[in-house]
Amino acid sequence: MRNVTDLNFPLCLAPMVGLSHVALRRLISDYMPQNASTHWPTEMLNSRRVPGENLKTTPETLRRDEEVYLVPQILGNEEIPIQKAVQRLVNEWGASGIDINMGCPVQKALKHNYGVSLMGDVNYAAQVVAMTKKVSTVPVSVKLRAVGSEKSVPQLITFVQQLVDSGADWITLHPRTAAQKRRGQSDWSQIAELKKAVKIPIIGNGDIQTADDVVLMINETGADKVMAGRALAARPWMMWQLGEKLGFASAAHLHGRRAPHTPVEEGAEYGRSLLKLIEYSEESFMQVAGASESLTLRKMQFYIRTTHVWLEFGHTLMAMCSRAQNLSDLKIQVACFFEHEQAMYPRTELRQ
Ligand SMILES: Cc1cc2nc3c(=O)[nH]c(=O)nc-3n(C[C@H](O)[C@H](O)[C@H](O)COP(=O)(O)O)c2cc1C
Repeated sequence: MRNVTDLNFPLCLAPMVGLSHVALRRLISDYMPQNASTHWPTEMLNSRRVPGENLKTTPETLRRDEEVYLVPQILGNEEIPIQKAVQRLVNEWGASGIDINMGCPVQKALKHNYGVSLMGDVNYAAQVVAMTKKVSTVPVSVKLRAVGSEKSVPQLITFVQQLVDSGADWITLHPRTAAQKRRGQSDWSQIAELKKAVKIPIIGNGDIQTADDVVLMINETGADKVMAGRALAARPWMMWQLGEKLGFASAAHLHGRRAPHTPVEEGAEYGRSLLKLIEYSEESFMQVAGASESLTLRKMQFYIRTTHVWLEFGHTLMAMCSRAQNLSDLKIQVACFFEHEQAMYPRTELRQ
């Protein structure tokens, strides 16, 4: 992959700690249309830890051999750890690109002056891109947030221009401010302004809940591609729905079926895909040295906590699943909940 625009499908998953792991990527890729390709993020990886970790057994860096176009996201601001991490991820692990996190607003990232705090220092942020580019043989991107003041758009453009001058190959913009975290409205006009102002590809992110939203964001902003986080985790078949809209043939194993569209069809698909995700998570995480069933259970409970909000009776599902003591218990609770017809809303208010 020379750049993200080499790939022909306009939707990708967002990097999300605890969610964008090998099992969820596998579930979402099951719904990818035939001959469609997109890039795949990972959970955020700390550049100080990657150099010393076993990448084959650390849950965050587990990957399947058949995965392609993986673009791991790193967090960091120091040259040596960044370079060692990038070298390992590219040469040993098979990354097709490297994404730098400049959007993480958690206290720990602020304390160490990385994540979103890099956005407070243009020169330093540009240096982080330059140090990554110096060692990377694959494209380097940056994911950032809105700046969030009256002067925000010109400031954002100046900031991004410096990253472009330092070699950034594409930018992903999540136009919520650090103060908004992941709530409130995402300001798509900033994606449009940025797209007009810079020459590299722009990926837009924020407030995407349905396949229609993907098309709307591209039409409204001119973004080269769209990234979806929570809703794509909840509705992995958004890939299938979007593929149908864009005229792609459905995946061979789905051939002859129409993508789910009504609330009841989507409710049933959520149940089926949740059971698949448990199976995929078991296959991946139970093999990790030292990993216990409780790691897989915790990951699944976190997935349900994030995605249940689209289900009409999601709180009931969450309460049932949070009481599960082990995976077989969890599967029983899920199967029991989905014995009854369930509805999934196209949209919900995003609070977490
Ligand atoms: C649980 C969770 C973890 C996240 N972790 C990261 C992260 O590690 N790196 C990052 O750049 N963004 C992270 N994000 C933000 C998402 O990538 C995305 O920008 C945000 O959720 C908005 O997109 P959405 O409305 O489609 O979910 C995280 C979001 C969630 C919900």
